[in-house]
Amino acid sequence: MQKWVEGRVVAQTRWTERLFSLRVEAEISAFEAGQFAKLALAMEGEMVARPYSFVNAPRERPHEFYYVTLPDGPLTQRLCRLEAGNTLYLAPRPAGFLVLSEVPNAENLWLISTGTGIGPFLSILKTETPWQRFKHVVLVHAVRHADELTHRDEVERLAGEHPEQMRTVSFVSREKKQGALPGRIPAAIDEGRLEAEAGVALSARESQVMICGNPEMITDTSAVLARRGMKKNRRRDPGHITVENYW
Ligand SMILES: Cc1cc2nc3c(=O)[nH]c(=O)nc-3n(C[C@H](O)[C@H](O)[C@H](O)COP(=O)(O)OP(=O)(O)OC[C@H]3O[C@@H](n4cnc5c(N)ncnc54)[C@H](O)[C@@H]3O)c2cc1C
Ligand SMILES: NC(=O)c1ccc[n+]([C@@H]2O[C@H](COP(=O)([O-])OP(=O)(O)OC[C@H]3O[C@@H](n4cnc5c(N)ncnc54)[C@H](OP(=O)(O)O)[C@@H]3O)[C@@H](O)[C@H]2O)c1
Repeated sequence: MQKWVEGRVVAQTRWTERLFSLRVEAEISAFEAGQFAKLALAMEGEMVARPYSFVNAPRERPHEFYYVTLPDGPLTQRLCRLEAGNTLYLAPRPAGFLVLSEVPNAENLWLISTGTGIGPFLSILKTETPWQRFKHVVLVHAVRHADELTHRDEVERLAGEHPEQMRTVSFVSREKKQGALPGRIPAAIDEGRLEAEAGVALSARESQVMICGNPEMITDTSAVLARRGMKKNRRRDPGHITVENYW
C-alpha cells in the first residue's frame, strides 16, 4: 500500500489569529462522517504527520480540516502557511471511531465539543443519518472567546433545515457573550443548566452522547454523566458515551 497520497490545497480560511480551515483535494479512500485523515508535511527530510477530523460530509469535496495553531506546534505552524496550489500529504485510509455506526439508537443525540472538536460533528450533521435516527440532536460547542464560535453560517443553516429536531448551545468561558452560556460544560450538566437551555433530556434512558476535543473536558464530562448512570460505549457492552480525545 502506498504510504502517502499527494494532496493539493484549494484554499485556506483564517477565522481568527489561531483558527484555520484548510480545504484540500486528494484521492484518498472513502470515510464515514466523524472520522479523521492523517495530514503530513516533509520537514528536514522526515514526514511529520498528525490526525485531523473531516469537517466536510463524505459526499462533499474539497475536504475541509479545521485546526488551531499551537505556539510551538511543529505541524500547525507549517500548515497555517500553506496557500492554494501548495502540496501536502495524506494517509490513504481515513480512520476513527467517533462515528454514528458505533452509537446505539436512542431518543436524543448529544454532540459535545470544545474548540476545534466541533469539526467531526459538523460532518455528521451534514449527513442524513442523525436526522433519520434521532428525535432530537443537540450540538454543544464551548470556546474561550466569542470569535472562536466559528462555522456559524453552517450551524444556522442546519438548524433552519431541522427546526423540530436540532438545538444548539454555545459556551463562551472567558468573556460575556449574549446568547452563550458562561462557564464550563460539566458544571452546566451537573446544575441542570445545559438541559434547561436545550430543552432536551440528557439521561441514560433517552440519550447517546458523543464528546470531542479537550481531554480534560472529556474526562470531567464523562464523570458527571457517570453520576447519571451513563457509561462508555463498547462494542461488546453498549453504553451511552462515545469520545475522541484530540491530545
Ligand atoms: C483523532 C484525532 C483527531 C484530531 N483532529 C484535530 C482537528 O480536527 N483539529 C485540530 O486542530 N486538531 C486535531 N487533532 C490534534 C492534531 O492531531 C495535532 O495534535 C495538533 O494539530 C497539534 O499538532 P502540532 O504538530 O502543531 O503540535 P504538537 O506538538 O503535536 O501539539 C502540541 C500540544 O498542543 C495541544 N493540542 C493539540 N491539538 C490541540 C487542539 N486541537 N486544540 C487545543 N490544543 C491542542 C496538546 O497539548 C499538544 O500536546 C486531532 C488529534 C487526534 C488524536
Ligand atoms: N484560546 C486562546 O485564546 C489561546 C491562547 C493561547 C494559547 N492557547 C492554547 O491553545 C490550545 C487550544 O486552546 P482552545 O481555546 O482552543 O482550547 P481549550 O483550552 O480546550 O478551551 C476551549 C473550551 O474548553 C473549556 N475547557 C477547558 N478545560 C475544560 C475542562 N476540564 N472541562 C470543561 N471545559 C473545559 C474552556 O474553558 P475555560 O476557559 O474555563 O478553560 C473553553 O471554554 C490550548 O493548548 C491553549 O493552551 C489558547
